[in-house]
Amino acid sequence: MPIQTNPDLQWWKKTTVYQVYPRSFKDSTGNGIGDILGIISKLDYLQDLGVETIWFSPFFSSPQADHGYDVSDFRSISPEYGTIADCDKLIENIHNRGMYVVFDMVLNHTSNQHPWFLESKSSRNNPKRDWYIWRDGQKFGGKKPPNNWKAMVGGSGWHYDELTDQWYWAQFLPFQPDLNYRNPKVKQEMFDTIRFWLDKGVDGFRLDIINTIYEDEALRNNPFTWRLFPSEEDDKSFFQNKIHTMNHPDNFTFIKELRNVLDEYTDPERFLVGEITASLELLKRYCGDNVDGTKTNGLHLTFQFQSLNTKFNASTFRNIIESYEQYFTEPYIPTWVFSNHDQMRRISKLGNNIDKAKLNTTLQLTARGVPFIYYGEEIGMANHRLPLKNAEDPIGQKYSRIPQFLVNLLTRSGSLSLNRDNCRTPMQWDPSLNAGFCSEELKPWLPVSPCYQTINVHSEESDSNSILNCYKTLLKLRKETPALHSGSLNLLPPFLFGGILSFQRVYNEQVVQIWLNFSTKPTRTSEIGENPRVLFSTVAGCNPLKDTLLHLEPYQGVVLELFS
Ligand code: NOJ
Repeated sequence: MPIQTNPDLQWWKKTTVYQVYPRSFKDSTGNGIGDILGIISKLDYLQDLGVETIWFSPFFSSPQADHGYDVSDFRSISPEYGTIADCDKLIENIHNRGMYVVFDMVLNHTSNQHPWFLESKSSRNNPKRDWYIWRDGQKFGGKKPPNNWKAMVGGSGWHYDELTDQWYWAQFLPFQPDLNYRNPKVKQEMFDTIRFWLDKGVDGFRLDIINTIYEDEALRNNPFTWRLFPSEEDDKSFFQNKIHTMNHPDNFTFIKELRNVLDEYTDPERFLVGEITASLELLKRYCGDNVDGTKTNGLHLTFQFQSLNTKFNASTFRNIIESYEQYFTEPYIPTWVFSNHDQMRRISKLGNNIDKAKLNTTLQLTARGVPFIYYGEEIGMANHRLPLKNAEDPIGQKYSRIPQFLVNLLTRSGSLSLNRDNCRTPMQWDPSLNAGFCSEELKPWLPVSPCYQTINVHSEESDSNSILNCYKTLLKLRKETPALHSGSLNLLPPFLFGGILSFQRVYNEQVVQIWLNFSTKPTRTSEIGENPRVLFSTVAGCNPLKDTLLHLEPYQGVVLELFS
């Protein structure tokens, strides 16, 4: 059973999460595709890194048209990743290390190859017909979609099926038909699937696009808006305000029912983290009501994507922290996420500047909230720009005919990731050909990024100044310092010249201050409080404390403990 460290705060509020994209982590079978036994062989590495919870992007049975986010059986494992026995072994091995395991649950849709959908589309009278959302078309003998609803990825979300002369709804890509949760059998089946994995010991679920579960039953058209691309706070897009297809009022009741399923399991408590693009206000609504000051009755966590494309400066982060502290006070808690399998990697947004990346990490691992680290982020893996025309990613394929200048423009603005292959290249373990991901004579499923000879685990382990060692030190410090994993947060007054962000974490008698210099200038702070001691600095080899003043180099981050 995983270890409970501090009885005050629930374990999942204090944890640190590492996301593994199984296809790209470690190949053990010699087919150039990562797999479960490969992951098991790297658990020592993850334990040594100091992360406490591991989230796996889906490895359920799937035709892999969206690399696992198109599930064809929620209770078995895709053969290229392993077997159900391998999966049991993975869970057991993680628990034996006192760590936790999170699966990725795609409740909104299935693959169009799922036996349920194959049955559903076989005839209008099939008992599974109502497991998906089928409607007659409009005008010209039903040859126009039932209404104007657009899919998340652009274009109509309705797809015509000739055999039964009806249209089915798909929020994402056409091969990912939405399940119909107005049918109680669907809900029952999916809740039982959740129980199936909870019974196997899974400690939590990341919920894929969980704000799209229900749509308007009356099929009212979505209103027009001028917005073309969604932002991290707002999913209006493709000139449509998606009031009838996203964040439907019935979602909130559904989440509470789902939470009740999770609450059937108490030893240890399990958790849900929702993937939702929305304002903080709406995200908080998804977390439910404050029940008794210690818990809520909705999602335990939601991703706050506000941090994804944020400008790298003190005042922007200050505003973010301020708003998180406003909306997500106990029993709510924010998350800190800078990269994932859909986004350009953070360090690429920071101009591949290691000092900036270390500062970013210091913020992520010391601010109040649950940090989510994407595989390779800890070694400073950069995006590898791969040509759209060869895309493995179905979104890349969908947009493969977009002119390159437009791709560059969108990519630079960070508003869209048109080829998600770029952030999914194989993990870089060592400087050998194929970076130790698979053997040298194989062709990995995606090309290894050319930076692998310098940016890899093996080389960075022996470099005390590497970003990998920065992560290790901070993760250890966070685990050992109650103020960092469980303390309250208050911002310190803004610094005169604006380049510094500083805040304080307090837990009982313990006071820890975090000082982050976002500017290119060395800066000296005014008097630090009583008896400061340096716990961590991103710059090795020199004491930033001179008497009671703190001297910060450009992009330096320092963590201090104050003793009264
Ligand atoms: C969001 C996931 O993060 C993405 O990778 C996936 O393609 C879509 N949902 C569809 O499941």
